[in-house]
Amino acid sequence: MKIGILGYGKMGKAVEKLSHDLGHETSRVLDSTIDVAIDFTAPLAVKKTAIVLSKTQTPWVLGTTGWNREEVLQIVQDHKIPLLYGPNFSLGMAFFSRLAKTAGSLMEDFYDKVGIEIHHAEKKDAPSGTALKLMEKVPGLTFTSIRSGHHVGTHQVIFDSQEDTVEITHRAKNRDGFAKGAILGAEWLVGKQGIYIFDDFFKERFS
Ligand SMILES: NC(=O)c1ccc[n+]([C@@H]2O[C@H](COP(=O)([O-])OP(=O)(O)OC[C@H]3O[C@@H](n4cnc5c(N)ncnc54)[C@H](OP(=O)(O)O)[C@@H]3O)[C@@H](O)[C@H]2O)c1
Repeated sequence: MKIGILGYGKMGKAVEKLSHDLGHETSRVLDSTIDVAIDFTAPLAVKKTAIVLSKTQTPWVLGTTGWNREEVLQIVQDHKIPLLYGPNFSLGMAFFSRLAKTAGSLMEDFYDKVGIEIHHAEKKDAPSGTALKLMEKVPGLTFTSIRSGHHVGTHQVIFDSQEDTVEITHRAKNRDGFAKGAILGAEWLVGKQGIYIFDDFFKERFS
């Protein structure tokens, strides 16, 4: 598979390296030879990319966070661009969010809950896209965001009662987990039509 790398920052470089390790070709030029594009850029770049990809209908794995969903998904739908998107492509986070959802409903009546997310100082959006997703999955959960140092990404959900505290934590050690999910997702997306979230891919592959 030939993967187009959109955005050559921390994530783009991790995707390029792992793609080669997994036997894929990569290119930083989006031309007609690309089988799928993997995008880790910035929120403002996403609409322009949708317009570019609408000409070739190149399958698009969109990991960038903080973009305007309504506007971009309209372009994708109108031009039938196969799309897989999500704020967190880590398989570990997909397992974690299921745990958080189950814990949330089991402990609903007995525990208060709060979330903390920590990312590196350069991260632009807060709360993280992953925290927003976790808040959708666990009713009543709120998050405090910390931006500091070089943290790749930590999400913690704390359930607290007068008697005890239950904490679950997902801590990314490096960017390879996100890159791996993006590449596996890209392999899955090629040949499909439609718009998918990362959960659709995860359910089909791991349930
Ligand atoms: N879904 C996931 O699993 C996941 C995981 C990690 C990160 N992310 C998200 O992925 C995005 C990138 O993260 P990162 O850590 O790789 O950031 P980064 O190191 O800052 O890299 C961003 C890259 O995008 C490029 N870029 C910025 N604006 C652009 C534009 N208008 N057009 C084209 N390219 C542009 C930057 O180029 P310049 O340096 O030249 O500006 C840079 O190469 C963020 O939104 C982050 O939240 C998602």
